[in-house]
Amino acid sequence: FETTYDDCWLRYDRVDDALRPGYRRRLTHAYVSEGAPELGAVRAELRRGLEGLLGREPHLWQHPPRSVDSFLAIGHPEEMRPISETIDVDEAWNLADGGFLIRTVEWEGQECTVLTASSDRGLVYGTFHLLRLVATGEPIDDLDVREEPANENRIVNHWDNPFRRSVERGYAGQSIFDWERLPDVRERYFDYARLLASVGIDGVVPNNVNTGIPSRPTENDAVADRAGWQLLARENLEKLEALASVFRRYGIRIYLSVNYAAPIRLGGLETADPLDPGVRQWWKDKVDEIYEIVPDFGGFLVKADSEGQPGPYDYDRSHAEGANVLGEAFEGHDGRVWWRAFVYSEHDDRAVQAYEAFSHIDGEFHDNVTVQIKNGPIDFQPREPISTLFGAMPETSLGCELQLTGEYTGQGVHTASHVPMWKEILEFDTHGDGEERTVKDVLADVEGQGIAGVGVVGEDESWTGNHLLQSNLYGFGRLCWDPDLSSEEITREWARQTFGGDEQVVETVTDILLDSWHACIDYHTGGLGLMHMMYNGEEALENHYDPAPWEWPEYHGATAEGIGVDRTSSGSGYAAQYRDPLTELYDDPESCPEELLLFFHHLPWEYELTDGTTVIQRLYDNLHAGAATVDDLRERWLDLEGSVDERRHRHVTARFDEHALQAKRWRDTLCTYFYEKSGVPDERGRVPTE
Ligand code: GCU
Repeated sequence: FETTYDDCWLRYDRVDDALRPGYRRRLTHAYVSEGAPELGAVRAELRRGLEGLLGREPHLWQHPPRSVDSFLAIGHPEEMRPISETIDVDEAWNLADGGFLIRTVEWEGQECTVLTASSDRGLVYGTFHLLRLVATGEPIDDLDVREEPANENRIVNHWDNPFRRSVERGYAGQSIFDWERLPDVRERYFDYARLLASVGIDGVVPNNVNTGIPSRPTENDAVADRAGWQLLARENLEKLEALASVFRRYGIRIYLSVNYAAPIRLGGLETADPLDPGVRQWWKDKVDEIYEIVPDFGGFLVKADSEGQPGPYDYDRSHAEGANVLGEAFEGHDGRVWWRAFVYSEHDDRAVQAYEAFSHIDGEFHDNVTVQIKNGPIDFQPREPISTLFGAMPETSLGCELQLTGEYTGQGVHTASHVPMWKEILEFDTHGDGEERTVKDVLADVEGQGIAGVGVVGEDESWTGNHLLQSNLYGFGRLCWDPDLSSEEITREWARQTFGGDEQVVETVTDILLDSWHACIDYHTGGLGLMHMMYNGEEALENHYDPAPWEWPEYHGATAEGIGVDRTSSGSGYAAQYRDPLTELYDDPESCPEELLLFFHHLPWEYELTDGTTVIQRLYDNLHAGAATVDDLRERWLDLEGSVDERRHRHVTARFDEHALQAKRWRDTLCTYFYEKSGVPDERGRVPTE
């Protein structure tokens, strides 16, 4: 029994009558070269896409047609002879993996749109690109497109618990991956692969980074039955290959999250010490076995020595020693190890800890290892400063980990676009090397680097729990491909494909999403750099969703005198981990950007900001502004009634109703809490009052 589900941005709604003849002229006849499974996917997508967009399927040829005025030709340069004489074959072969060219040429008196690439997946990406041009009403009469992905690796990390099908931090129903039924494959895998490939994503980790019991499990350990390590067992590798065979058609490789204690748990060894020869051999044999079964396996993702997961610290080894045994196991195979830098223990300032664990071992990692760093030092908060590690490990392959799912941004309910946040992260100047070096430069530089995003989809009909949150999956892929795109371009593109060509709708949806992130920061944090005031416990309130600032006071540092956490060079030292001039910038409350002020400084409640407003008053103002913006976003959405299909309009309206309530709840809880701590009332007399 398959559930029905939405097509997201691959709806392929019919284009305007006026545009249709032009597109039909170019796209009615198509020649797609034979070959790899990806070309089957290309043909299927062309049929499906053009049938929807233009009202009829293209005529597919097995050779370049001679008797038509105009046609589309798709294939590798060599396979398309003699058409390929019209393009620069060397240029095509020299494109980075995944890159493609689309050019309008003339061939033997016929008009021809040529799509060519150096790799099979490049042809898939190019096909989706062309279909996107049509779906967004762009001209295709004189194309000269040359695209290459800016980041070599573009991977979605699912925190899905295999077999149980629960999704850690998932808010859109259970996992789409059904390990019980694999190797039977579901139609939904194909559709998910299509969505990913359409935005250039090339890797999927289908299982949670929490892969099993910690080295020293407690009796009622919540992670005990996640058992992701079992996926390394042979019978499950066969299932993995079934999954891989679907994604492979779309140029996407499958990875696995693995448990560092697998040599013990699965291999029956006494130890998982990375320097033990038996352990090294075990990993090597395991990786060889995987490649026998899954020939294009992508690699491992590892959460080690973090939140109870086992790791090299259990044997007094460093993260580099721990990761390298896995890196070595991949020698001779085209795969790599993504080793997460998300490590901290529950003492001192959590923000400083990843840097302390990793920066001094820069350069010690095996070539096959990428260190995967969360964008900020805490944990996917609505806004964080950028992790100091991006400027501190020039000799190591780095990956940036973003979160698509809204763990701390209102989960599947609140409309919160992460795209503007990611843009800010990627554009941040680390000043590595003493000169301008943005995070996007750091990532794009070296082989083995890239961006990973914690997944957002589940069995829900909308995939993401809220139709508008599909834009985060879309935007993630687009930004990984091209971090120079603006949030606006990406969001507009998404809105147009998802909600059709009505300009008013596209405009409104785009604006709602672009405004949503700031609102989310304001009502969740007060906009001055505070964070993690979400509920963390197990009962009654929703974990990381409801407000509970009293729970973890160390994250906001509120006392009777003031608020914020001293993370300056003379405080916890976090600011000192940046390269100059950032340390200086953050160390001084006068120069520290206001939006991060209380992340770096503990200040009196009535400390005056540059415009003369006090800290406490600004918190009140921002909290109110955030909640008011949500009301406004909701109104704007309501105005679209009748212009958006009823089903989706009703669904999103219900989400906005709840969102608006929750934003007020956040506002009131935080205002009350700050008032009780400070004793300073809101000078505008809004809630709370005495
Ligand atoms: C957060 C999140 C956990 C997750 C962890 C991680 O702490 O709440 O559910 O396991 O991040 O990134 O590993």
